[in-house]
Amino acid sequence: MQNYDILIIGSGGAGLTLALKLADHSLRIAVLSKFALTTASTYYAQGGISAVFGADDSIESHIDDTLNAGAGLCDPDIVRLTVTHGKSSIDWLRSQGVMFTEEQAANGEIQLHLNREGGHSHRRIVHTADATGKAVSLSLIERAQEHANIDLFEHHNVVELITRANGTEKGIVGAYVLDSKKQQVKTMAARVVVLATGGASKTYLYSTNPQSSTGDGIALAWRAGCRVSNMEFMQFHPTCLYHPHAHSFLISEAVRGEGGKLILPDGSPFMQNFDPREELAPRDIVARAIDHEMKKRGIDCVYLDISHKSEAFIREHFPTIYQQCLDFGIDITKQPIPVVPAAHYTCGGVLTDSYARTDITNLYAIGEVACTGLHGANRMASNSLLECLVFAERASEDILLKLPAILPPPELPDWDESKVSDSDEEVVVSHNWDELRRFMWDYVGIVRTDKRLSRAMSRVELLKKEIAEYYRHFRVTSDLLELRNLVIVAELIIRCAQQRKESRGLHYTLDYPETDDSQPAQNTVLTPSQRERR
Ligand code: FAD
Ligand code: SIN
Repeated sequence: MQNYDILIIGSGGAGLTLALKLADHSLRIAVLSKFALTTASTYYAQGGISAVFGADDSIESHIDDTLNAGAGLCDPDIVRLTVTHGKSSIDWLRSQGVMFTEEQAANGEIQLHLNREGGHSHRRIVHTADATGKAVSLSLIERAQEHANIDLFEHHNVVELITRANGTEKGIVGAYVLDSKKQQVKTMAARVVVLATGGASKTYLYSTNPQSSTGDGIALAWRAGCRVSNMEFMQFHPTCLYHPHAHSFLISEAVRGEGGKLILPDGSPFMQNFDPREELAPRDIVARAIDHEMKKRGIDCVYLDISHKSEAFIREHFPTIYQQCLDFGIDITKQPIPVVPAAHYTCGGVLTDSYARTDITNLYAIGEVACTGLHGANRMASNSLLECLVFAERASEDILLKLPAILPPPELPDWDESKVSDSDEEVVVSHNWDELRRFMWDYVGIVRTDKRLSRAMSRVELLKKEIAEYYRHFRVTSDLLELRNLVIVAELIIRCAQQRKESRGLHYTLDYPETDDSQPAQNTVLTPSQRERR
């Protein structure tokens, strides 16, 4: 058994920020990553991090924009808390070595260059060209590798959280973890466990996310007894590169922020028919408009055109996108980019309070896995990395306060493999993976109906039985663990979507196409039944 003070599950922006904030307090910290340390959404973030720096901008304006995008479901206190920490979060990242893009102001001073993105009424996105996440990830990983108190474990996949009853409360004491290189499950005990496992966009066939985004943290917390909220609000990014060999490559919203126009195959623009803000309307509106045009016209994609800007401008602002598209034979300085919407961000997740605490004592959730109340029914662009930073800081404050009273975990039993054997039919896992992601795309995607949701639910029920049986009989593998989590996440998305009898933010259904303003907007909250808890 390995013993730590703090076990952080996830090496993205949220997990590494927390590890670094705690590391100077003489604590032993483990950070787990399911794959390589950089296989995390954070590494792939392009546009940047929202924070108020512009002379004409204000905290109130950032708050208003966030509340507007969230379509009545943001928690105003959480929005204010997050937004007011924007500047200090950027300053902290700079202190860790992250280099952001700068420009010379009219008065000759060097200042941060700010991007503009959908839903934001001002330029307020701090960025490193079009590869902000890479700059953030690499700096944080380097700082964590240097720190003697942090142990980093790659290719370590959490199988299950371990809890113990303490009177009427349930407390966390550790986790069973599959070392997927050695194919061994080990026991990791800890006084505090933090879920920083990212989102669940890989529940869908087409996604902008890396392979790590299978919603594991949400499923782990659900099985352990935590409430989950707002899972119907899955965000589809409007512009993912459409090319047979491009998997999951995003074309940043910052391209539209700099004047990129969405056009049909005949070159005509269409966003003016959907929203007065046109290309800079919030994401739900732009993604739905594209979906509508594709379905109405039977076309495979629409196009995003930035070629009216100079080549020098494009290459300076979007070097990664320029090069990646060129590798696929598309010169974006001369040609429009073929794009389609793809699953991008999980607005819902494990319900937390303003210190990232979950329903289980000493179990925290930070970053995309959590539902803090910041995003409501639709996350505004570039508010997510900000949330990772702010809630890592909040969790660190609470952990440091509580830690002196938290006892070391008890001796924990080893993982029991006495009743399982090696699988003789891996094909079951890969087949079920494909099936799940396809029906989620077809039936629980950008536009939903009651009938589509109930079709998807029938399939989930069948898959759940099959996967549970498989899990009982065979030794765990990374693919099996992810599939077992994905099917729970799919069920939670569908259950939340079925409960919402209106269209709001990212949840759009043809059966209830209007937003119900007759009563106060409600978050969807699911509580696991006794049977659903392990
Ligand atoms: P992640 O960065 O996804 O990290 C999750 C970590 O958890 C990984 O290390 C993973 O291996 C680990 N993990 C998961 N499950 C397990 C398990 N079972 N066991 C062990 N480890 C596990 N947001 C912005 O604000 N601005 C942007 O410009 C922006 N651009 C984006 C571009 C792309 C292409 C994508 C995909 C997202 C973008 N987002 C952006 C969203 C943002 O990047 C993510 O929401 C954010 O990075 C999530 O950080 P995180 O630390 O919560 O999770
Ligand atoms: C983008 O660059 O378009 C992604 C921004 C985000 O998801 O916040």
